[in-house]
Amino acid sequence: MPPTEAEVSALHQRATEAARNSYSPYSRFRVGAAILLLADQRQDGAIVAGTNVENASYRLTCCAEQAAIAAAVTLYGPQIRIRAVAIVNLNGSACMPCGACRQTLLEFATPETAVFYPSASGETISTTLAALLPAAFRLDRE
Ligand code: THU
Repeated sequence: MPPTEAEVSALHQRATEAARNSYSPYSRFRVGAAILLLADQRQDGAIVAGTNVENASYRLTCCAEQAAIAAAVTLYGPQIRIRAVAIVNLNGSACMPCGACRQTLLEFATPETAVFYPSASGETISTTLAALLPAAFRLDRE
């Protein structure tokens, strides 16, 4: 089920709050991501946010989406499913999820997972993870 307008608005608010805590002294690119979990008895449609955490050894940087997913698994366990994710940045730049984040989101996605991100002109692009990651790599679980 696609997220409601109220849910999308809440996602953007939580992502923006998270982005204010960004640790990005190297790029100064402040990103926030908020994920809406699929409602079930435990997750109850919860929203969990994360921000980017950089490192002097650049490649150790953790993207906002990955921070949000790690927090969601920590809080709700390994069965989480992502109904929607909103990404924001406080620099006014386009901020679509990077390739690594697309693959990380896929791990907990549904066929309908919605993605919202800012385009270069500042408008919010609404799409799906399936559209952003065609022919995705998957490994069958035992
Ligand atoms: N970044 C994210 O947090 N998510 C993405 O999907 C793309 C990039 C962060 C990583 C780094 O701290 C900064 O943006 C510049 O690449």
